[in-house]
Amino acid sequence: MSVVGIVLAAGKGTRMRSDLPKVLHRIAGRSLVEWSVGAALDAGVDRCVVVVGHGRDEVCKALTERFGDRVGFAVQEQQLGTGHAVKCGLDAVDADRVLVLYGDCPLIPSSTLASLLAQQGSVGLVTGNLREPTGYGRILRNPEGRVIGIREQKDCSAEERAITEVNPGIYAFDTAFLRDAIARLATDNAQGELYLTDVVEMADDVVDVLGDMTFLQGVNDRWQLADAAKVMRLRLNEGWARAGVGIVDPFSTFIDADCAIEPDCTIESNVHLRGRCTVGAGAVIDVGCVLEDVRVEAGAHLLPYTVAKESRIGPRATVGPFSHLRPATDLGPDSKVGNFCETKKTIVGEGSKVNHLAYVGDGVLGKHVNVGAGVIFCNYDGVQKHTTVLKDGVFVGSDSQIVAPVTVGEGAYIASGSTITKDVPADALAIARTRGQTNKAGFASKLRARFGASKKAGK
Ligand code: UD1
Ligand code: CA
Repeated sequence: MSVVGIVLAAGKGTRMRSDLPKVLHRIAGRSLVEWSVGAALDAGVDRCVVVVGHGRDEVCKALTERFGDRVGFAVQEQQLGTGHAVKCGLDAVDADRVLVLYGDCPLIPSSTLASLLAQQGSVGLVTGNLREPTGYGRILRNPEGRVIGIREQKDCSAEERAITEVNPGIYAFDTAFLRDAIARLATDNAQGELYLTDVVEMADDVVDVLGDMTFLQGVNDRWQLADAAKVMRLRLNEGWARAGVGIVDPFSTFIDADCAIEPDCTIESNVHLRGRCTVGAGAVIDVGCVLEDVRVEAGAHLLPYTVAKESRIGPRATVGPFSHLRPATDLGPDSKVGNFCETKKTIVGEGSKVNHLAYVGDGVLGKHVNVGAGVIFCNYDGVQKHTTVLKDGVFVGSDSQIVAPVTVGEGAYIASGSTITKDVPADALAIARTRGQTNKAGFASKLRARFGASKKAGK
C-alpha cells in the first residue's frame, strides 16, 4: 500500500513575532519543517507533499536542498485553516493512505509515526497527556473509551477544557475517506476556519496510539522553540555519549544534527559545533570553542575559546587558546597555532608553528616552519589579496611583516623586526629594519636625571 506524507507549513507563525516564517526557525541546525519532513520520510512514507504559503520560496528551497525529489509542494494562498491546507495538499496525492503532520512539531520520533502507520482504520491518531493542556485540541472519547472527536480549545465547554488528553496533530488517513470528509468540513467554529480536526468525528473506526508529549510538543512561540531545542540537544548529546563521545556537560553542549563525531573524543562545556563539523577519534574540543563546518582530525586538540569556520585541523594539531581560524585554513599534521592568532586561506604544513599573536592570511607554509610572535602577513593592498609562501624550515623572527606577494626559500631566516618586501633565497638571512641599533654606554642614568629635573620644574 502506498503512503504519502502531507506536512502543513503555510502559516506565518504570528506568535513568533518574526519576519522569518515559523517553520524555518532552526533547532540543532535544521529548520522545524526539515525535522517534520525528515521524520515522515524516515517512518517510511514514499514522499512528502509540503503545503506552503508564507515565505514559500524560502521554505521550498530549504526542503529541496535537503530532500531533493522526495518532497513536492502544494500552495495554499490563503490560510483558511488546517482542513483547507490538507485539501490543497491532497490534490497532489494519489496514494492509498496519507500521513498528515504539522511543520511546527520538530521532535516527533519517526518510530511514533511508524507505529501509527502500522494501524488500520480510516483515521489513526496519536494522542498525548499534558498536565497543562492549554492551546491544544482536546480528545473526546465516548463512555466505552473510543475516540469520537477533537475539540479545539477555543470551542471547548468548561468541562471539555478540563480534559488533559490532547491532539499533537499527527494523523494517518485512508485517502478516499479523507477526500470525502474534507469536502464536508464547515467553518462554524470560534475561529471561522476549516479545521482538519473536525474530520475525526466523521469516522466510526478511529484508532489511536499514545505518544509521549515531551517529543510531540508544537512550537508556536520562541519560548517553545527554546524548550524544543533543549529537548533535541539532550537527545543528540545522549546519542553521542552512548556512542562513546565524552560529553562533559550535556546541557551546555550544542551539536548540530549534521555533525559527525568519532568515539573517544572529549567535547567540553559551552562548545558549539555548527553546520557539518566532523571530529576524528581522540580529539579534544576544549571549553568555549565555536566551530562551523570544520573538520577536526584524529588526536587534534582545540584549546579553550577557539573559533573556526570552514577549516581543517589536521591529525594531532593544536590550536588556541583564543585563536580564530577563518575559512580555508588547513592545518597539517602535528602543526600548532597558538594563542591570539588569526589565520585565513592558509595552509600550514606538517609540524609548523604559528604560536603567538600572529596574522597569517593567504599563506602557504611548508613543513617545520616557525612563525614568531607578532608576525603579520600583509596580504591585502587595498585592492587585491596576495600570497606569502614560506618553504620548508623557514624561520620568521618576531614582529616581522611580510608584504605579499613574497616567497621565502627553504631554510631561510628572517631577522626579528624586519619588513620583508622581496623574495628571500633558500638558506639566506634577511634583515630589513629601518635603522640599526647603537648602544651608548652609561647614557641611561643621564637620561633619567634629565627627565627627573624636568619633572621637578613642572614641565
Ligand atoms: C492545531 C490543531 C490542534 C492541535 C495543535 C497541535 C487544528 C484545527 N488544530 O492547532 O488540535 O492540538 O495544532 O499543535 O488543526 N497551517 C497551514 N495552513 C493553515 C493553518 C495552519 O498550513 O491554514 C499550518 C501551520 O503552518 C502550522 C500547522 O498548520 O504548521 C498548525 O497550525 P496552527 O495554527 O499552529 O494550529 P494550532 O492552533 O496550534
Ligand atoms: Ca501549532
